[in-house]
Amino acid sequence: MSAARRIRPSGAPALLTGVTEASIGLLIARFYAAIRRDPDLAPVFEAAIGEAGWPDHLATMCRFWSSVMLGSGRYAGNPVSVHRGVAGLERPMFAHWLAVFESVAASLFVPETAALFVAKAGRIAASLQNTVFHRPGAVPDRPVVETGPCD
Ligand code: HEM
Repeated sequence: MSAARRIRPSGAPALLTGVTEASIGLLIARFYAAIRRDPDLAPVFEAAIGEAGWPDHLATMCRFWSSVMLGSGRYAGNPVSVHRGVAGLERPMFAHWLAVFESVAASLFVPETAALFVAKAGRIAASLQNTVFHRPGAVPDRPVVETGPCD
C-alpha cells in the first residue's frame, strides 16, 4: 500500500517521511495555498505575482526546494535580488512566513522530516533578511568606540 493510501486513526493520510520531488511538490502546493489565504502575506504575494503568475512561481519554488533539499541543482536564480524588488516586503513578515511554513510542514511530514525543511527555511530566511534589508553605507546603530584588535 502506498504512503498516500495509509490513513491515520484521525482519518487523515499518513505523514510522509521521504524528501522527494513528489513530497516537495505537495509541500509547495499546500504552503502557497496557505499563503494565499493569509491576510498579512497574501497581498504582498498577489501584488508581485498576479493570478497568471502562480503556476510559474510554484514551479520555480519546486526547483528551489529540490536544489536545497536534494542538491539537484534544478534552481538557478537570485532570491536576494528578487526579494529586493518585492513591494511591501517587511522584516517582521519573515517570522510569520516561517510560522506558516512550519505548520504546513508539520501537517504533511513526520517530525524529523518537517524539522529538516524548517531548519533550512529558517537559515535561508535569516540570510535573506540580512541581505535584503542590508543598506551598504548605512549609519550604524551607534559608533563603535571600544578598541579592537583590527587596524
Ligand atoms: C516574508 C517572507 C517572504 C515574502 C513576502 C516573499 C515573497 C516572495 C515573492 C512575492 C516572490 C515572487 C517575486 C516575483 O516573482 O516577482 C518570491 C520569490 C521567491 N521566494 Fe520569497 N518571500 C518570502 C520569504 C522567502 C523565504 C524565507 C524563502 C526561502 C526559504 C523564499 C524563497 C523564494 C524564492 C526561491 C523565490 C523565487 C526567486 C526567483 O524568481 O528566482 N522566500 N518571494
